[in-house]
Amino acid sequence: MAPKGLAILIGAGPNTGAGIARILASPSHGNLAVALLARRPEPLHQLTASLRASTPGSTIEAFPADTTPASLERAFSAIASHAALANLPLELAIYSVKHSSKKPFLEETHADFTDSLTTYVGGAFAFAQLAVRRFLRDHGEQPLGAPGSPPNAKKGTLVFTGTLGALRCSAQFAAYGAGRAGVRQLAQSLARELSPLGIHVVHTIANGGIRDEMGEGREDGEEEKKAVAEGKRMSAESVGRAYLWLHEQGVDLWTHELDLRPAQEKF
Ligand SMILES: NC(=O)c1ccc[n+]([C@@H]2O[C@H](COP(=O)([O-])OP(=O)(O)OC[C@H]3O[C@@H](n4cnc5c(N)ncnc54)[C@H](OP(=O)(O)O)[C@@H]3O)[C@@H](O)[C@H]2O)c1
Repeated sequence: MAPKGLAILIGAGPNTGAGIARILASPSHGNLAVALLARRPEPLHQLTASLRASTPGSTIEAFPADTTPASLERAFSAIASHAALANLPLELAIYSVKHSSKKPFLEETHADFTDSLTTYVGGAFAFAQLAVRRFLRDHGEQPLGAPGSPPNAKKGTLVFTGTLGALRCSAQFAAYGAGRAGVRQLAQSLARELSPLGIHVVHTIANGGIRDEMGEGREDGEEEKKAVAEGKRMSAESVGRAYLWLHEQGVDLWTHELDLRPAQEKF
């Protein structure tokens, strides 16, 4: 079955990114072609090969990139001219970069603090801008309800994977908390500006561990399956199913922020 559209995910690693990608690419779930972005080419290509092998009928391609504007522009342009992806409309764009930093405040430097914000928040901005331009290019620029606009004319979904640090954060996490809160506010502003155009913007708050317990060759696979089954960890594929559900929401009901947690996670 040919993919019905395109998803772009930055933050393609072995846990959350892998599970989301498998669900989006699976012909029995999202049936989307998936473009995967992360910085290191070798693990990215290995992950792509393993996801293709475990997801028959999928279209998954790798585009090594970091979150700088120039690198993201190169990746989006390579995606746009890739033979297997070129004619597919962008449906879902996911910013799910793993980015952490912990340091006593007096050991933090201005350079490291601002570098963290540039990488994480600046990256979210640059990724979002390219994704939004692509949504509008692929689905048209008419606002919802404009004369001649079809009903339920959703143009795509932009999801930022956030954490509790976006709401409140612990000692020594100044850069991390500032970055996570910054992306949460970016998502709110984009949602207010872009919803009337038909672009759905979501910020998720993942509380607790996420594991791709279905990932191939995991040494801790059995342990992780047990933790998922007991509600101690979230399955990365369940995060993928939640993201797909968000994308499937019609224009009459859009979730903007979503708290995600396994059953045994403390509130
Ligand atoms: N796993 C959990 O338990 C958990 C729990 C709650 C929330 N989350 C959130 O879920 C998201 C994914 O985290 P994860 O731990 O599960 O990781 P993951 O999906 O397994 O991998 C994320 C990938 O992001 C890539 N990355 C990091 N910095 C990047 C950059 N500047 N530009 C491009 N790619 C970059 C890394 O690959 P490269 O090094 O090759 O770039 C990494 O492998 C994060 O936002 C995290 O906070 C995770």
